[in-house]
Amino acid sequence: AAVTTVEGIGSTKTRIHPVQERIAKCHGTQCGFCTPGMVMSIYTLLRNHPEPTMDQLTDALSGNLCRCTGYRPIIDACKTFCKSSGCCQSKENGICCLDQGINGLPEFEEGNKTSPKLFSEEEFLPLDPAQELIFPPKLMIMAEKQPQKTRVFGGERMTWISPVTLQGLLEAKFKYPQAPVVMGNTSVGPEVKFKGVFHPVIISPDRIEELSVVNHAHDELTLGAGLSLAQVKNILADVVQKLPEEKTQIYHALLKHLGTLAGSQIRNMASLGGHVMSRHLDSDLNPLLAVGNCTLNLLSKEGERQIPLNEQFLSKCPDADLKPQEILISVSIPYSRKWEFVSAFRQAQRQQNALAIVNSGMRVFFGEGDGVIRELSIFYGGVGATTICAKNSCQKLIGRPWNEEMLDTACRLVLDEVWLPGSAPGGKVEFKRTLIVSFLFKFYLEVSQILKRMDPVHYPSLADEYESALEDLQSRHHWNTIKYQNVDPEQLPRDPVGHPIMHLSGVKHATGEAIYCDDMPAVDRELFLTFVTSSRAHAKIVSIDLSEALNMPGVVDIMTAEHLSGVNSFFFYSKPEKFLATDKVFCVGQLVCAVIADSEVQAKRAAKRVKIVYQDLEPLILTIEEAIQHNSFFKPERKLEYGNVDEAFKVVDQILEGEIYMGGQEHFYMETQSMLVVPKGEDQEMDVYVSTQFPKYIQDIVASTLKLPANKVMCHVRRVGGAFGGKVIKTGVMAAVTAFAANKHGRAVRCILERGEDMLITGGRHPYLGKYKAGFMNDGRILALDMEHYSNGGATLDESLFVIEFGILKMDNAYKFPNLRCRGWACKTNLPSNTAFRGFGFPQVGLITESCITEVAAKCGLSPEKVRTINMYKDLDQTPYKQEINAKNLIQCWTECMAMSSYSLRKEAVEKFNKENYWKKKGLAIVPLKFPVGLVSVAAGQKLSPKIQVASRELRMPMSNIHLRGTSTETVPNANISGGSVVADLNGLAVKDACQTLLKRLEPIINKNPGGTWKDWAQTAFDESISLSAVGYFRGYESDMNWEEGEGHPFEYFVYGAACSEVEIDCLTGAHKNLRTDIVMDVGCSINPALDVGQIEGAFIQGMGLYTTEELDYSPQGLLYTRGPSQYKIPAICDIPTELHISFLPPSQNSNTLYSSKGLGESALFLGCSVFFALRDAVSAARQERGLSGPVRLSSPLTPEKIRMACEDKFTKMIPRDEPGSYVPWNAPI
Ligand SMILES: Cc1cc2nc3c(=O)[nH]c(=O)nc-3n(C[C@H](O)[C@H](O)[C@H](O)COP(=O)(O)OP(=O)(O)OC[C@H]3O[C@@H](n4cnc5c(N)ncnc54)[C@H](O)[C@@H]3O)c2cc1C
Ligand code: FES
Repeated sequence: AAVTTVEGIGSTKTRIHPVQERIAKCHGTQCGFCTPGMVMSIYTLLRNHPEPTMDQLTDALSGNLCRCTGYRPIIDACKTFCKSSGCCQSKENGICCLDQGINGLPEFEEGNKTSPKLFSEEEFLPLDPAQELIFPPKLMIMAEKQPQKTRVFGGERMTWISPVTLQGLLEAKFKYPQAPVVMGNTSVGPEVKFKGVFHPVIISPDRIEELSVVNHAHDELTLGAGLSLAQVKNILADVVQKLPEEKTQIYHALLKHLGTLAGSQIRNMASLGGHVMSRHLDSDLNPLLAVGNCTLNLLSKEGERQIPLNEQFLSKCPDADLKPQEILISVSIPYSRKWEFVSAFRQAQRQQNALAIVNSGMRVFFGEGDGVIRELSIFYGGVGATTICAKNSCQKLIGRPWNEEMLDTACRLVLDEVWLPGSAPGGKVEFKRTLIVSFLFKFYLEVSQILKRMDPVHYPSLADEYESALEDLQSRHHWNTIKYQNVDPEQLPRDPVGHPIMHLSGVKHATGEAIYCDDMPAVDRELFLTFVTSSRAHAKIVSIDLSEALNMPGVVDIMTAEHLSGVNSFFFYSKPEKFLATDKVFCVGQLVCAVIADSEVQAKRAAKRVKIVYQDLEPLILTIEEAIQHNSFFKPERKLEYGNVDEAFKVVDQILEGEIYMGGQEHFYMETQSMLVVPKGEDQEMDVYVSTQFPKYIQDIVASTLKLPANKVMCHVRRVGGAFGGKVIKTGVMAAVTAFAANKHGRAVRCILERGEDMLITGGRHPYLGKYKAGFMNDGRILALDMEHYSNGGATLDESLFVIEFGILKMDNAYKFPNLRCRGWACKTNLPSNTAFRGFGFPQVGLITESCITEVAAKCGLSPEKVRTINMYKDLDQTPYKQEINAKNLIQCWTECMAMSSYSLRKEAVEKFNKENYWKKKGLAIVPLKFPVGLVSVAAGQKLSPKIQVASRELRMPMSNIHLRGTSTETVPNANISGGSVVADLNGLAVKDACQTLLKRLEPIINKNPGGTWKDWAQTAFDESISLSAVGYFRGYESDMNWEEGEGHPFEYFVYGAACSEVEIDCLTGAHKNLRTDIVMDVGCSINPALDVGQIEGAFIQGMGLYTTEELDYSPQGLLYTRGPSQYKIPAICDIPTELHISFLPPSQNSNTLYSSKGLGESALFLGCSVFFALRDAVSAARQERGLSGPVRLSSPLTPEKIRMACEDKFTKMIPRDEPGSYVPWNAPI
């Protein structure tokens, strides 16, 4: 085999590949951690299709995740390889993406369609397929010369057998009947890695030709078990082109699911045989293969045999299964017959690359055109331990005509047969029950429609409004416009400020040369540290037995709290927090001990052998409600009061009380927590290489743990693969323990968390409960608002109090509430401590305020946007903490966003669409944004690049002369946190300060020799002993807040914006699609528009994830279930708005900030809630049509489950409901 890596296709030392160049120059990298993956996906695509279509492009990237960019710039880079970039090239119904407006409306003013580009295509290297690497001929010759024989690779613990002939395979399987036959390893691999399954022998038959057969017989297609799912997809796509439609029903259904099954990487590896044999409960293909009466062709040394792929096989009945010595050779899939119909359904948390919550295959055979059921077969996945067949129901329906009565009976029968207990694993029980019948209804409609088409005389037409149930929500091709500011014509041509400058490390990200913490080469005698964490949420540690673990090979030490005695705690706010648990644990995932071994594998193996005995303690507090019941809060409570709320309530027309709950969010930075601590061996000095946003904090915590002066600890941060607020406090704890181990053993120690550990140990965004009482006039003016915020802080204080404070200060968002009382509590619970996260409480409290406004609007019979406008700040005003505010730009963003999105026209169109479509609804919403910036919070940390533009402007020096290195406490000893929205401000102003100092010193030299070069001037400075190093410092903005008085000046300035989103939902499944988003932002004067757009888009998409798909599930015992990308769904490429338009307000001056720019790192995350409210609007339309009055209470994230269950209908009424308390639910409502 030859493996080509991202380093192999191009490098800065030789020549970079066009893919690498374009992804960098199109601003497709921010933290850069995902970039090599993106590059390789595009590279692979181009190797197969040098001029791909947009479909191929989105398909190729469907398995890649990016947490920073929001994908748009990556798509832009790819599009430059498409035949005609900028257009989907698929003229669906004769119109392409650029012509077609949503709802038939022209979506964008003509003039705006071609927005200025953030990159220039002219300078791109051309893609020349002839220049690509070829498979090394040397290897081919070697392979030819090698004798064809079974290869055996033996390790310490396992043996890998790779037979080359079928006979060899059968013999191996005969000899090792229990050994798995590993093809793609996408099923066995995860079991080994995550479930600890161990196979001493593995058989790998990937070189056996007989497993790749494709046989066309007169009535069936036989596909080799070794074909990859990608190959199967291509073969079926070909077959459906060639055969008449009536024969290809099952192939069409398979193709539909193969389009969304995993991502292209998995489909390229996973085999048909592996898929069938794994029999995963949520397998997408098995229900279809089962309804299609497929046959499995088996072979062993004893000979061939066939078994049906039926219910017994799927439930692993020994009589219907393979014998241990048998292997699956191929799968025969029969052609469908005339009057036979097959359909495939699935619903997942995310449209693509997400396992189905429920899926189904359904087949009916009428035999002739009389519409009487002769055969019926229905299988469901996701609802039991295996794929389930509704056999009895199908049997009872044989002979029934295909009509609504039959459907009604079918639904009741199936619900009875496919029974799902209230405590079923995976939860979402009522949703699953509803999907079971909703899919059946869709099947009924699909078949009815085809029958009508085949025989219009005998079959009635479907009601028009029902047709909307049939189409799936399609992802149309993405397109976008960006309107940014023009550079001041007075500006010097070489001054880079205001230009879309590429990320400094962009090319290195794309070539894989960028070095992250774990890329650092191993240090001599380096050790690896892994943590053993608590498996209980609240318990006493009765005993810890380390003996077995200590005896494991390679183990050097296991440290407990005892070892750290005297230094096992740190102060963050006011209370000491412990590094390692002592006698009690307060959450699952709490650090209990640290295993140090020669290698990662050895450390991890030993960690599993540490035996801890716990005794559970009461109470167990997981939810905010439980914390309220137990009065479990961190002190102090915070309160802000403005005006006279109680008096105001007496004069208002109406009062409403409500609440909204909002779930937390996992940072999901691509680079997990990583650190390497190297004792320098002299003077007790320590080098700490760590991925953090706050090097000084790490330096302090390590120094205090080692009882060293801080000047002996050097903390280095070259780059961070995403942080979003999650790489400060917990990073410090882990760095302290790692440093302690390094110091104790005098050896370098590395600690890199795996994704699952990272998600388990580190908290994320605080879940919130907001309760409100609003007093308002009938015209929508809110005169009194009494608000309560409760956050779920977790087990320790961390930054919870700051989050509550910021939340209270920011809750007014864009509105003037003349009489306001807002109180906030951080709840102490038995969850891992929640911490800072981009937006720092604002995304939660903003949603609460906007929900309140939406409800007020409903009560007044007004539109939410009307009530928003009425209550918005007007020009000069005062915030609840009595800081002055000029809201001119807020109003401007709002009105421009209204205009840019053609809000009123589109609202009418949405209403029309909703009238005409019963099962699909559209929703439209617009939200304003006022995001205060000033007090340093901890959040993102991408905005370091402007430093180079600042230096270039100040020194009047070309950017190519400037080099930026990673930061270190050695060079910048007391830098503030890289977080909040103020990174660019702090760093940029400090750079400006330093450059001005330098220039002052150099000016006399330059003046003497104005024609000289920088080299000349530097030499003269050296000759004249003039220092050429300068330190600049910016101490941050002045801010104060007096909580007793309820007033202060906590913020320096406000970022304003507005976003309008339009969505479509499928009322039967809860699926949704973001059709279009328009964002207008007040960015001040943009220093780098590409960077600003990137921050806005990235934050918006992260916000969309927060409000719609990212759902954390915990067990009733407080264990986080969602510990990886398979369970936790951050937005993928399929989730981004089909259309995205971003526009900056014209430049506005702001004397206090860097060149009048504004920090945009966090603010736009909140704008993701425009999608939440658009979904709410769509759900409300469905409910109204179904005669459901009263406000709809929807919590965040608004997942397919919640959307479906809110669109109540006859199917939601039909499902059985469990009495609360009669069962233990799978998950706790956190
Ligand atoms: C990230 C990810 C996303 C996924 N998403 C989806 C999804 O959306 N929908 C979905 O349906 N599935 C999904 N899957 C599951 C995936 O479809 C299966 O893991 C895959 O099809 C298994 O094929 P494989 O070749 O990798 O199997 P392997 O892991 O190689 O083998 C699996 C099992 O099959 C047995 N086996 C394999 N070949 C033979 C043979 N010829 N004879 C006898 N036994 C054999 C092996 O002994 C082993 O027990 C996903 C998996 C991953 C990792
Ligand atoms: S740039 Fe994609 S994850 Fe950071």
